[in-house]
Amino acid sequence: MFIAANWKMNLDKQSILEFSKDLQNFKFSKDVRACIFPPMTYIDFLNRQIQNLPIYLGGQNCHFKSSGAFTGEISPKFLKDTGCEYVIIGHSERRIFNKENNNEIKLRAHSAINADLKVILCVGENLIDREKGNAIKFIENQILKCIPENFENSYIAYEPIWSIGTGKIPSVLEIREAHRNIKEILYKKFNVNTKVLYGGSVNVENINQILKIAEVDGVLVGGASLKVKDFLAIYTAAVKHLNNSL
Ligand code: 13P
Repeated sequence: MFIAANWKMNLDKQSILEFSKDLQNFKFSKDVRACIFPPMTYIDFLNRQIQNLPIYLGGQNCHFKSSGAFTGEISPKFLKDTGCEYVIIGHSERRIFNKENNNEIKLRAHSAINADLKVILCVGENLIDREKGNAIKFIENQILKCIPENFENSYIAYEPIWSIGTGKIPSVLEIREAHRNIKEILYKKFNVNTKVLYGGSVNVENINQILKIAEVDGVLVGGASLKVKDFLAIYTAAVKHLNNSL
């Protein structure tokens, strides 16, 4: 089980310091992996605050080249060097605001995996495609175009765009259908068993309902991961869920 916290462009140094202090006495479980994706400039700072804790670190994006004249970009090698184990690629906010297309996302994922990072590759439909009944087809197309052939030890995050930051989540059936399809496509095409995280308005109220869906291997949390109390409550829900299902 995997609880991933995507902080996006939030939390400054002082807030990170306070967040980290509140993590110090928490009892983490070896069965539930926690990973935080802070703003790039604070990865090293956060790393130093949580060095003694079993929390992994990740970058929110990386470039497809390992070095060169790419002003403002981050090399996957640098993420690895700074202590990251994971990287998010193809988040819908990058696709929309930074015009990253499927081909570029594939290149970024490929080079991240080559740099020994585990990728969390994001897919998900917009509201129009969901309402037209095209969601599964849309996701399938994204996956076939974005997944590099070296996609090992990596994850997919199913994040419907209409659910991000809106408080709306798909029904249990819709999440199950999407996750099942994603797993099937990846197995058929690449012969890999892939873990799929759900992302989009995950919070303390809906976490139990989401974790009950057997096809959900974890969650990618945005807004609710910015408050340490909520982040730890979501983590605790995952631990309880695992204990109950043993
Ligand atoms: P919210 O949890 O704020 O909806 O964000 C989800 C997300 O985009 C995580 O990557």
